[in-house]
Amino acid sequence: MSETAKLTLEGKEIELPIVVGTENEKAIDISKLRGETGYITLDYGFKNTGSTSSAITFLNGEKGILRYRGYPIEQLAEKAEFLEVAYLVINGELPTKDQYDAFKKAITNHTLIHEDMRHFLKAYPRGAHPMGIAASMICSLSTFYPESQDSNRSEEERNLTIHRLLAKLPTIAAWSYKFSQRHPVVYPQNKYDYCENFMHMMFSMPTDDYTPDPVIAKALNKLLILHVDHEQNCSTATVRVVGSSQANLYASIAAGVTALWGPLHGGANQAVIEMLENIKKDGGDIDKWIAKAKDKQDPFRLMGFGHRVYKNFDPRATIIKKSADEVLEALGVDDPILDIAKKLEKIALEDEYFIKRGLYPNVDFYSGIIYRAIGIPTEMFTVMFAMGRLPGWIAQWKEMRENGEPIGRPRQVYTGENERDFIDIANR
Ligand code: CMC
Repeated sequence: MSETAKLTLEGKEIELPIVVGTENEKAIDISKLRGETGYITLDYGFKNTGSTSSAITFLNGEKGILRYRGYPIEQLAEKAEFLEVAYLVINGELPTKDQYDAFKKAITNHTLIHEDMRHFLKAYPRGAHPMGIAASMICSLSTFYPESQDSNRSEEERNLTIHRLLAKLPTIAAWSYKFSQRHPVVYPQNKYDYCENFMHMMFSMPTDDYTPDPVIAKALNKLLILHVDHEQNCSTATVRVVGSSQANLYASIAAGVTALWGPLHGGANQAVIEMLENIKKDGGDIDKWIAKAKDKQDPFRLMGFGHRVYKNFDPRATIIKKSADEVLEALGVDDPILDIAKKLEKIALEDEYFIKRGLYPNVDFYSGIIYRAIGIPTEMFTVMFAMGRLPGWIAQWKEMRENGEPIGRPRQVYTGENERDFIDIANR
């Protein structure tokens, strides 16, 4: 008989099954708890609650380990292409050469978006945040491909939606930027690979054809890989919960994009650069900003610092910090913001407040510095995160549907009024 946990409630002892994962991660299965005892578990922010079992990403926050389908992030970031990693997380295995060629071809075939969708872009006000545009445009794709609204379709039809999403998000992202600048959009070109094509759509002008720089395309490839998946974070959990209602993939991904937008999640990369700019404008007094971050009366937090699961270091941040130095050097960019970031990191890492709470730079601390160096405007940073995270969201949605998981529906402890009689408006 497998091991169980014993729980004593109101003098009665009940046994709860223990579930052990392939990396020896342990969980107590409480799914029958309410039925047998009337109790539920309470865990604000799901800090200690597993919502599913998953074979996609393994993460050990204490040891700073991150693996997609068993492959260490360090190896993937160094050796793989973004679409290769996308194939890996979505399908479970690295593609053979033939499989990879077919996958890339399928994606290249769908990079255009419907011309009518281009007209939507005209209606957004100048300076509209590209995350708002991206979420709406992704959701709108479901209306252009109405068959996708049946999420119980065949594998082949589902793959078509997956290819369309991967192909069209860079176009949507680049076009939302072009429209925000009131510049004409640039159409995708099939001669380019995924990252080059995005840079081409972002930076080519009708009068001046941009040639993607290999240093930039390589840096972008690495950044996207580092963002591909991160198990049950806020946006991914959102995608799974929305998808569990059998909402279509486009709608589920749009929900993930909106969850990512917040500054405590993917929006942190934009917030980090804005913070570093503010520190610079304010005279660069780092001690003052560290003190603000520690002051519980002050809402300011050190953006790009801290993580729900990493308490020693974020392996993605280690790779990105090194890459930031390399990219800036290769491009000959001297960004004073990088010096401020490094000083801030050094002081924070020696400070008792940050040490005690296990607060370290996360993936977003240095990513914005690379995005800036390669010419991506600050408001686009979180869209870049979304482009990287897209394969992970798709893989998680697919896994949840293939496992036939039930609709996500947490419980609550009610703390409102007890029953009372309605009072007529004249007597209130
Ligand atoms: N600056 C100052 N204090 C902090 C910070 C920070 N960045 N992060 C956490 N703390 C403190 C917090 O005040 C609390 O202190 P105390 O125990 O005295 O009340 C303690 O550390 C624990 O924080 P928490 O908010 O309970 O931790 P959490 O796991 O709920 O939040 C977090 C994790 C990432 C939301 C948080 O660290 C944070 O707000 N960081 C800044 C935003 C950020 O960089 N987000 C990007 C995360 S990585 C990208 C992604 O995958 O989303």
